[in-house]
Amino acid sequence: MARNKTGIIELDEMLRGGFMDKDAVMVAGSAGTGKTTLALEYLVNGATQFGEPGVYLTFEQLPDQIYRDAENFGWDLRKLESENKLRVVCTSPDLLLDPEGEEQLLGETIKELQPRRMVIDSLNHLEMYVPRGDLRKEAYRILMYIKTRGISPLVIWEAQQGPESSYAVTQIGMSFLIDCLVLLKFVEINSSMKKALAIMKMRGSDHDKRLREYEITGHGLRVAAPFLGYEGIITGSPHRSLTQEVAGAWDTAFTRTKHKQ
Ligand SMILES: Nc1ncnc2c1ncn2[C@@H]1O[C@H](COP(=O)(O)OP(=O)(O)OP(=O)(O)O)[C@@H](O)[C@H]1O
Ligand SMILES: [Mg+2]
Repeated sequence: MARNKTGIIELDEMLRGGFMDKDAVMVAGSAGTGKTTLALEYLVNGATQFGEPGVYLTFEQLPDQIYRDAENFGWDLRKLESENKLRVVCTSPDLLLDPEGEEQLLGETIKELQPRRMVIDSLNHLEMYVPRGDLRKEAYRILMYIKTRGISPLVIWEAQQGPESSYAVTQIGMSFLIDCLVLLKFVEINSSMKKALAIMKMRGSDHDKRLREYEITGHGLRVAAPFLGYEGIITGSPHRSLTQEVAGAWDTAFTRTKHKQ
């Protein structure tokens, strides 16, 4: 089975080799969790390590900002563009939503680059331009346009952080369009802010079911150890699990007994 490696070693391990080819991937998380960083790293690694050119379609920022932020991670997007390995497309959502929008915006680039990966940053921007309830239809149209051209899409979704809306990504009713859902989340543990990554679903594949801690470093996203012994991290109220408490109590008792001897 063909896999699209992200090039982030631990994440590829969690995905049992990488995303499945042509699968629609969604990276969801609240503001500042590192969605754009993950998506850019996926494109840069695809272009530099795996011979897979990519397109970064964004409604997000001004191009200069994107190049500058990427440079801080050591990624020279302009160089990759000059080598026809990457294209940054900055546009307004209404252009993409036009009936012939995808072809006008992307047709030439697809012919020129023959991309294998495409990121859309983010679907929330489309939400502002389409009547409520039409987002699914538009997302479907765009995803199909990308997939039928042999390109694997990765879409970004900014989900609200909070206990009641922690599963909001699935509440928007787009889960049937999405083959693989990666969730990024801030969690507070022992009074410090940590970041947690989980693969919530991956159609047709096994995957790591554990919550893993991750960090955004000067070189991109790095996945660390799983959060063991905590429950409720996804729902936003982490607490040590009962088994962990019991194990902790035994440890303490054991140490005390040992000291007495
Ligand atoms: N060069 C860097 N080195 C280390 N950490 C960085 C660097 N650049 C950004 N970060 C961290 O990554 C975070 C933002 O990452 P990113 O922009 O990918 O998040 P995002 O989820 O796309 O945010 P938004 O919802 O605002 O679009 C920053 O808040 C910062 O903590
Ligand atoms: Mg972003």
